[in-house]
Amino acid sequence: MLFRAPAVRGYAGLRAWREELVKPSWARRGLRLVGALALVLGSWMAAAGQGQPGTVWVWSGAVTSTSAVVKAKVRGVFKDLTLLYDIDRRMQGARRMPTDSSARPDDTGVVTFALDGLTPDTRYYYTVADGDQRTVTGEVRTFKEGAYSFDFAAGACGGGSMLSAVSNSTIFTEIENRRPLFFLHMGDFHYSNINRNDLPLFRRTYDRVLTQPRQASLYRHVPIVYVWDDHDFGPNDSDRTSPAREAARAAYAQIVPHYPLILDEGRVTTIQQEFTVGRVRFIVTDLRSERDPVGQPDGPGKSMLGARQREWLDAALTRAAAEKWPLVVWVSTVPWITRTGSKEDGWELYSWERRWLADRLEALGLARRLLVVAGDAHMVAIDDGTNSNYATTAKPGTPGFPVLQAAPLDRSPTVKGGPYSHGVSAESGQYGWVEVRDDGAELRVTVAGHDKGGRQLPGLRLQMDCGDGGCAVVR
Ligand SMILES: [Fe+2]
Repeated sequence: MLFRAPAVRGYAGLRAWREELVKPSWARRGLRLVGALALVLGSWMAAAGQGQPGTVWVWSGAVTSTSAVVKAKVRGVFKDLTLLYDIDRRMQGARRMPTDSSARPDDTGVVTFALDGLTPDTRYYYTVADGDQRTVTGEVRTFKEGAYSFDFAAGACGGGSMLSAVSNSTIFTEIENRRPLFFLHMGDFHYSNINRNDLPLFRRTYDRVLTQPRQASLYRHVPIVYVWDDHDFGPNDSDRTSPAREAARAAYAQIVPHYPLILDEGRVTTIQQEFTVGRVRFIVTDLRSERDPVGQPDGPGKSMLGARQREWLDAALTRAAAEKWPLVVWVSTVPWITRTGSKEDGWELYSWERRWLADRLEALGLARRLLVVAGDAHMVAIDDGTNSNYATTAKPGTPGFPVLQAAPLDRSPTVKGGPYSHGVSAESGQYGWVEVRDDGAELRVTVAGHDKGGRQLPGLRLQMDCGDGGCAVVR
């Protein structure tokens, strides 16, 4: 469209035309005023929005038959911050936590609700609320004591792409839809590779993971059991020398719902935990934060556990043996079965300690009642015990215990360790699925690899029948 200049007559006409161009018309003034008002109003609304109470993320864990821990991060100003919870989804008769006061988030907005006095084997719905005003809702199911049939999912390595370091994969929805009793995350919760002692950076990284929509939904509906591996503890292949160690420990203690940690004079050190579901004892070890550097010579002086955690593990295994659990699940996080002379991450380069552990398991009678679950290697693999026996007394061909490697949730595939009797699947978007069926006399456990499309991975399935005499692999 052409600009048509008005008729200009002489100098006065020219000046009038220029002033008309420069001087705003009433309409233009009106428009500017509306724009300025909108800007002020927008800023005011944004500022007011900052004050609106809301929940950034919420998840649960540390579940027992009568208790659970819900952790949330809130923003804005809550007048009466509580957790409402009820066995009824509509929560019309909800109880509140705390009962007679408001919860107080810490100075980063994180608040912990420790629920107690719950009914065993019962699903509870919960919501973070400001008085009666609810924000997001979640759910958690308490465990049952004694013989109990349940399923759990196990996975590791959810990093998305090299650029993102966090994942919003559909695999998290797939796991949520299968409704496991809990989700065992064995590390590489993200791939941020933090290599400095920066607690705010760890907190921001947790915020990023926990606000990925599909992960956030999974964690609101399925409680977590989480232990770190290298990329979420520190840099790649990290060990006790990681500069990020203290920040990683502090962030974990603050943000992750966890079973009681073994403190050292009040300080968080390693994050190993143990818990029981039905008649299955779970022992989760921290194989990063006291790990000696891989270059140290193998022998009694080199440890993946650290001296204090090794002592704890010995006691935990002794307890598990004394209590005669039909099945013990040990979460190793890194591959147990390794190739001789391999330099890959795993137990090969800590073989003195692996032999010590294998001998203890044998001596305590646990080698026949054990399932090892691990991540780190980006593959699903199953061994029926053919290749897992590293005990001093083991003769060639004497079987050990079954091993399930379950990864990667969302990361490029790699293969480590082995050989594995049932083979290996190296694809992105995989996890392990474990079903326990217990009638009080015999406990049957089935472990399998699955992919994010809902398929069971061909050949990667193993059944163990556990009774008084230990577990037998069904072939
Ligand atoms: Fe990984």
